[in-house]
Amino acid sequence: MDNELVIVLDFGGQYNQLIARRVRETGVYCEVRSYKTPIDEIKRLAPKGIIFTGGPNSVYDESSPHIGEEIFGLNIPILGICYGAQLMAYTLGGKVETCKVSEYGKTDTVYDTSGKLFANVPEKAVSWMSHTDYVSKVPKGFKITAHTENCPAAAFECVSKRLYAVQFHPEVYHTMFGMSMLDSFVKKICKCHGSWNMKNYAATAIEQIRQKVGSGKVLLALSGGVDSSVACALLSKAVGDQLTCVFVDHGFMRKNEGDEVEAAFRDWDVNFIRVDASERFLSKLVGVSDPETKRKTIGEEFIRVFEDEAKKIGKVDFLVQGTIYPDVIESGTGDAAVIKSHHNVGGLPDYVDFKEIIEPLRLLFKDEVRKLGTELGLADYLVWRQPFPGPGLAIRIIGEITREKLEILRDADLIFREEIAKAQLDRVVNQYFAVLTDIRSVGVMGDGRTYDYTLALRGVTTTDFMTADFARIPYDVLESTSIRIINEVKHINRVCYDVTSKPPATIEWE
Ligand code: XMP
Repeated sequence: MDNELVIVLDFGGQYNQLIARRVRETGVYCEVRSYKTPIDEIKRLAPKGIIFTGGPNSVYDESSPHIGEEIFGLNIPILGICYGAQLMAYTLGGKVETCKVSEYGKTDTVYDTSGKLFANVPEKAVSWMSHTDYVSKVPKGFKITAHTENCPAAAFECVSKRLYAVQFHPEVYHTMFGMSMLDSFVKKICKCHGSWNMKNYAATAIEQIRQKVGSGKVLLALSGGVDSSVACALLSKAVGDQLTCVFVDHGFMRKNEGDEVEAAFRDWDVNFIRVDASERFLSKLVGVSDPETKRKTIGEEFIRVFEDEAKKIGKVDFLVQGTIYPDVIESGTGDAAVIKSHHNVGGLPDYVDFKEIIEPLRLLFKDEVRKLGTELGLADYLVWRQPFPGPGLAIRIIGEITREKLEILRDADLIFREEIAKAQLDRVVNQYFAVLTDIRSVGVMGDGRTYDYTLALRGVTTTDFMTADFARIPYDVLESTSIRIINEVKHINRVCYDVTSKPPATIEWE
């Protein structure tokens, strides 16, 4: 087992987890900790390297986060980034001042390639800056290893003390050769071997969960989405049948989806409960066509069903949530993170009697979660499942929901998914689905008049789902989808493609 660890000390920067993730990409395990972590705890962790993050403050602000000088004497290599670089300079006797010209964004940077971080970097390249203070004088014993037009000490180092600093952000994509710099820090300076991978992560996480849970009972609300499925697989390996998964099937899943989720977990060593609650949900939604009322009704009913099941199981010690890093709302300085209610299940009941929440994925980004799922042996169709909203097809049927409309939408949506897969676009278009509109229009089929529903197809490309562009799906794929839908699905006589980005539209229609 590879015990190499690099820690990122969080000074409130917006890229703290991204830094950790980039270090993990070099094959070394990395975690973010608060800058307030006691020095004894750091000694106990014995990291091979420490990285100070950026932060919004100036080192001269009274309330700005500081760190005792002792950390610089541990003989553990430290890399300060942005605020972290200024803090290192300030703490060790250098000088920090406000820039005459703030640097923000892509900045031409000149590197001294004899600098330890820059062995594989050309003499000139673009770095990504975001600062209003700068280091005007480096501490005694430090050498400047990079500069820009407005920043005389864009990087500096003291090799004998194993201290390194960069004013720019090597972790962001726009810094050319940034990965190479981080790799040099981790491998050449911290002397890590870089043999960590998702297999080790799984092994460590499983061990930690076992220690925490002991012989306790664990409950997990499984939505069938990637995150809760991976969390389920991990917990199952860790605590086997001490785990109960409750999969509330609200009846708004896509075609065959409920059965697929059940099949995926049937052979795992977990207590799997599938609650067919479709009647309950549908009856609550009779006459409801307002989108927000639909969402609230479904969220509320979900909680009620979950509560009923939890009561049957009895006292539960731990509740598992599939929260992943982008879901985590952090205070920014590593103080206790606010735990977000699971957005897939619309918030869980307060009253459920459990001691603690386990969030085994909260350090990971989506693609890391997918890697972990594959490592744990989850089927590809679960691991690569596109995001699916908690309320499911209910918010893809405009207007009132009926069983008939659900059937129509399920069949049409399946055809769209099949055609996208056939064209090998399923990992190119990030989310794609069909929406059954409330519009009916006149058509002609055979020699007869039809008066049937209009179906909308939606496909988007996005990285974070906060903004999105409509996907440029080739016309022939749209054509084959449209022909099949009209021929194979009753009550649809017109198919449209949504060519709106987000904003101004949203990805879902409701
Ligand atoms: P919008 O429609 O807001 O969607 O642009 C952004 C992303 O979030 C998904 N979505 C949800 N996911 N519960 C979820 O877990 C929800 O209630 C929900 N509503 C929207 C949507 O599918 C898209 O990926």
